[in-house]
Amino acid sequence: MERFVYEAAPARVVFGAGSLSETGAEIDRLGCSRALVLSTPGRHALAARVAESIGARAAGVYAKAVMHVPVEVAEAACEAADALGADCLIAIGGGSAVGLGKAIALRSGRPVIAVPTTFAGSEMTAVWGQTENGLKRTGRDPKVLPRTVIYDSVLLASLPMSIAAPSAMNALAHCVEALYAVDTNPVVSLMAEEGIRAIVRSLPDLASGKPLLRPGALERAQYGCWMASMALNGASVALHHKLCHTLGGTLNLPHAQTHSIVLPHATAYNANAAPEAMDRIAAALGEYGEEGAAIGLQRFARAIGAPTALRELQAPRERMREIAQIAVANPYPNPRELELEAIVELLERAWLGDAPPADA
Ligand SMILES: NC(=O)c1ccc[n+]([C@@H]2O[C@H](COP(=O)([O-])OP(=O)(O)OC[C@H]3O[C@@H](n4cnc5c(N)ncnc54)[C@H](O)[C@@H]3O)[C@@H](O)[C@H]2O)c1
Repeated sequence: MERFVYEAAPARVVFGAGSLSETGAEIDRLGCSRALVLSTPGRHALAARVAESIGARAAGVYAKAVMHVPVEVAEAACEAADALGADCLIAIGGGSAVGLGKAIALRSGRPVIAVPTTFAGSEMTAVWGQTENGLKRTGRDPKVLPRTVIYDSVLLASLPMSIAAPSAMNALAHCVEALYAVDTNPVVSLMAEEGIRAIVRSLPDLASGKPLLRPGALERAQYGCWMASMALNGASVALHHKLCHTLGGTLNLPHAQTHSIVLPHATAYNANAAPEAMDRIAAALGEYGEEGAAIGLQRFARAIGAPTALRELQAPRERMREIAQIAVANPYPNPRELELEAIVELLERAWLGDAPPADA
């Protein structure tokens, strides 16, 4: 076994159907008494319900979270938290709400309780992201790591497959890149493989439209995404996340859908440089992985109805070279060297929705 460094992040997870009812007790546990509840506009009613359930512990509801956390949105939210005298934050929703919570935490140190309602997987990470002047920046800071995460599968029941499927692909992307990260380790790899297995075992049941016939599918999916989020925090991300952050920050494309489309192609790009990771990904994909990791990921995306072509998102084809150039200019560490022309080709295939090249 090679030498490695493993750093565990502190985590308190309250998992299970109905666990949202623990929110008030979790605020008390943090020694806080005035929580600002954050959400996207679409989850406003849910945020208001949470605020009502915690009674006098609620400082207010701020339902202005936006995808990719524009800096001006983060600053306005921070001012609102100050004005309302909030001493902690409850971020309920997908990665956008959690991202806004992290942006406030970064500026003020306020603790965050995250209540994820998608599979994006921001909740277990100390990674923040913000967009300014069309560029998305990310960084790590222990201040932004949510202090408590409440996984309540009941909140996922309202998630349409059009959001759930790409969101699950986003979670798979965390697992895939953790397996071939330059600083991966055996513990992170275990979580990543388990994440892939749990997602692959649960999402098709949800996509069948009959999750109630398969009790436990929502919980299993959420468990898989928890593992994915831990894997994301435990190792660095690579070319795939860089491309998605660039596509999202520069072209304002939806985050999860972009992940779903690019993942098979970024995996294929790295296939020869990370053969052991490819074997592990393919094995965890089960029947979907029979022709290798990259093709298996695209097969799985199709099986659950997740998007597989950037043109479906109306992404401007003529800007793919620019995206490749931005990604190469400021890269994340990647197992295979970054070659501009090969990345332009990767994006072209992703734009068309072609099959990725088979694993070598
Ligand atoms: N920092 C990290 O570690 C990390 C990790 C993953 C994602 N992210 C960030 O998260 C953001 C994307 O998150 P996302 O894909 O969850 O998007 P999102 O939070 O914007 O949610 C997508 C849509 O789903 C709706 N929604 C959420 N939960 C729902 C539910 N249960 N039922 C019905 N509708 C629901 C929301 O209102 C929104 O309109 C990006 O900005 C990305 O960069 C960060």
